[in-house]
Amino acid sequence: MKLAIPKERREHERRVAATPDTVKKLIALGFDVHVEKDAGLLSSILDSEYQAVGAKIAAGAPDIYKDADVIFKVQRPLHASEGDIDELALIKKDAILIAILSPFTDAAALDAYAKGGIISFAMEFMPRITRAQSMDVLSSQSNLAGYKAVIDAAEEFSRAFPMMMTAAGTIAPAKVMVMGTGVAGLQAIATAKRLGAVVSATDVRSAAKEQVESLGGKFVMVESDETGDAAGGYAKEMSDEYKAKQAALIATTLAKQDIAITTALIPGRPAPLLITKEMVRSMRPGSIIVDLAVESGGNCELSQAGKTVVENGVKIIGHYNMPSRIATDASALYAKNLLNFITPHMDGDSKTLKIDWEDEIIIGTLLTKDNAIVHERLKGGN
Ligand code: NAI
Repeated sequence: MKLAIPKERREHERRVAATPDTVKKLIALGFDVHVEKDAGLLSSILDSEYQAVGAKIAAGAPDIYKDADVIFKVQRPLHASEGDIDELALIKKDAILIAILSPFTDAAALDAYAKGGIISFAMEFMPRITRAQSMDVLSSQSNLAGYKAVIDAAEEFSRAFPMMMTAAGTIAPAKVMVMGTGVAGLQAIATAKRLGAVVSATDVRSAAKEQVESLGGKFVMVESDETGDAAGGYAKEMSDEYKAKQAALIATTLAKQDIAITTALIPGRPAPLLITKEMVRSMRPGSIIVDLAVESGGNCELSQAGKTVVENGVKIIGHYNMPSRIATDASALYAKNLLNFITPHMDGDSKTLKIDWEDEIIIGTLLTKDNAIVHERLKGGN
């Protein structure tokens, strides 16, 4: 079975869906692994490293997609209207496509997978069950994004993070506030603590308090009987009354902070607005906001995707694709997630794929099969 690792062609994408380590294991499972030329370059992996473990190097898009039975990608393939190369048109019928497919933002691509007879799996739909943890791309990538957000803040911050007592005087520790304490937020807390900051955090889910405190952060929460817990550990949208209380809480807390890292998300909804323009203006000049939710609409009113906005001396950073900014590690973990996803379905004796279509993980991630959209959340259009 030919397993193809194409080069990522979308903007701001530096990751790759396999590493020499995972390629070696995929070959041992029985795959004939092909990697497109320079696919790993932006993640600091050379073609020669893939070749050394047994992969074949394909010259370009037509070569890599030709006759591919399984395709591992980070982002969804380009289609005709998106660039010079129509990757989707190169994928053969019955090929298996595994990637972060963003079906809600690209309905046309979803239809194209179905029409083209592609068996497509969206890795971001991974069910949040214990067995799937090692395949959970949202977790592996958010963890690194949370780390990198703090490092980006530290780079822009013109002061130190830790307290320093020197002969010339004492430097106070930086005050960091993390809003949204899912996987990214918790790693942001841990990273800021490691750098010596005084860290506080807020969230709407009831489990968050204990997790924040276990990392040494101070938990700040709205006093209310309402909690934001929704299915699968995710958050729901809060009532207007709660939002007003939360805005008041953030307004009083934020003015005393040097750095805010915002990561708050609600599945299928725009990111909640947590920091208004007025709140930004209440912060001291030199303060930093890193908005990890910027591509979902932003937690800060002033953040703009791909830009650093300066308001009243406060910098609001809105990088695209944070995991891609730490591409080598992000690729390594993503590649492992995909390897862990496919491994249970590879038959050891025949060295062929025998997908268990009844498996909860397969049902949870499968978008299209037999020329139809089969996912519960997407059936009947979106
Ligand atoms: P996420 O990326 O969907 O959202 C980030 C955070 O924003 C969440 O903690 C959410 O509660 C918070 N948030 C939403 N609205 C907010 C608001 N108005 N104000 C403040 N915070 C707000 O979250 P992520 O990283 O996916 O984690 C969600 C939960 O799922 C966590 O409990 C995590 O531990 C759990 N999880 C479970 C996994 C498993 O069992 N396999 C894997 C990964 C996460």
